[in-house]
Amino acid sequence: MATRTAVVVGALGVIGRYIVERLRELPDWKVVGLSRRKGEDRDRVRYIPVDLLDTTDTASKLADLGDATHVFYCAFQASGTQAADYARGIAANRDMLVNSVSAIERVAMGLQRVVLVTGTKYYGTHLGPFRTPAKEDDPRHMPPNYYFDQIDWLTARQSGKRWSWTELRPQTLCGFAPGTPMSIVPVIAVYAAISKELGLPLRFPGKPGAYRTIYQVTDSAHFANAALWAATEPGCANQAYNITNGDYFRWGNLWPRIAEVFEMPLAEPQTISLTAQMADKGPLWDAMVARHGLKPHRFDEIAAWPFGDYVFGSDWDVMTSTTKARQHGFHAVVDSEEMFVRLLAQFRTGRIVP
Ligand SMILES: NC(=O)c1ccc[n+]([C@@H]2O[C@H](COP(=O)([O-])OP(=O)(O)OC[C@H]3O[C@@H](n4cnc5c(N)ncnc54)[C@H](OP(=O)(O)O)[C@@H]3O)[C@@H](O)[C@H]2O)c1
Repeated sequence: MATRTAVVVGALGVIGRYIVERLRELPDWKVVGLSRRKGEDRDRVRYIPVDLLDTTDTASKLADLGDATHVFYCAFQASGTQAADYARGIAANRDMLVNSVSAIERVAMGLQRVVLVTGTKYYGTHLGPFRTPAKEDDPRHMPPNYYFDQIDWLTARQSGKRWSWTELRPQTLCGFAPGTPMSIVPVIAVYAAISKELGLPLRFPGKPGAYRTIYQVTDSAHFANAALWAATEPGCANQAYNITNGDYFRWGNLWPRIAEVFEMPLAEPQTISLTAQMADKGPLWDAMVARHGLKPHRFDEIAAWPFGDYVFGSDWDVMTSTTKARQHGFHAVVDSEEMFVRLLAQFRTGRIVP
């Protein structure tokens, strides 16, 4: 019987979807998912479509969430065209948090924990080289960064309350969420499939330096396990944690394995703007969907090319320490190279790409 009720804010995103699915496996949880689109209601999972930027509508639609015990906040709105600039999008990202948490807190007398998902941009990973491995108590970079506004608002709001917060900082999610495709796996899968369709070898499209430097990612399913841990562990109250797969890799070692998954020859990196070069590939994609009998995902909902440019453009070490999470009890790790091979192979067998 369900004794806990989670409100997953941003429930259809590349983080939220996986938290919903993880909680759905556990009989003691009920889940309410919030996003503008309406998800498909299932046992113990119901979705409320709501625009969190509309304060009045949010308050009225969330007024019956009196039994909420946990909030997983993973909503996000992009602003600007470059993913490296997303951290500047303060107003929408602060207001969605304020509106949703305020509305829930007002009615949920048994609220226990608010898990806020931020990210390693906290350290300025999007700006250039930073101190590595970054640790949770490292100083912030020069603002603006909406994470700082979110954290500061939440910590002030929590002060003196019975509930507590936990902040999680992942890096480059690896999952699949059509319509909110800020994941590097579909970017690689669709880029490889289009290269193959055009008779090209597989080339790393990022900066030469990015091929060689240290990078890290976060499997969405692994992150959902971390979020569950963070929500329920008493010792995580009012703490921040870096959450990644727990290992590091170099694209240069991984790219040959990706070429194997797609049965393609590998060639030297060639730096391109994915945003620019993929802009005219929609009709080609539609033809590929028909010719190969793929699942009918629209080109613009499947891969976020600006996100790909951002990830493959980091020619400095991107490395955070997950020691604190391990010391506090979250021990799970994922082998990133194996994860990419597994997820990309699933994209092929699942008929998302040929
Ligand atoms: N993805 C990554 O690689 C990554 C890495 C590190 C950190 N993060 C951080 O994690 C957080 C979540 O990001 P994400 O990648 O999971 O985002 P995402 O995949 O784009 O999902 C965003 C979610 O928010 C919902 N949403 C957006 N605007 C809304 C509105 N006005 N009202 C209601 N719902 C709204 C979206 O659904 P609808 O569109 O249906 O409204 C969706 O469910 C962000 O702060 C991000 O910076 C992400």
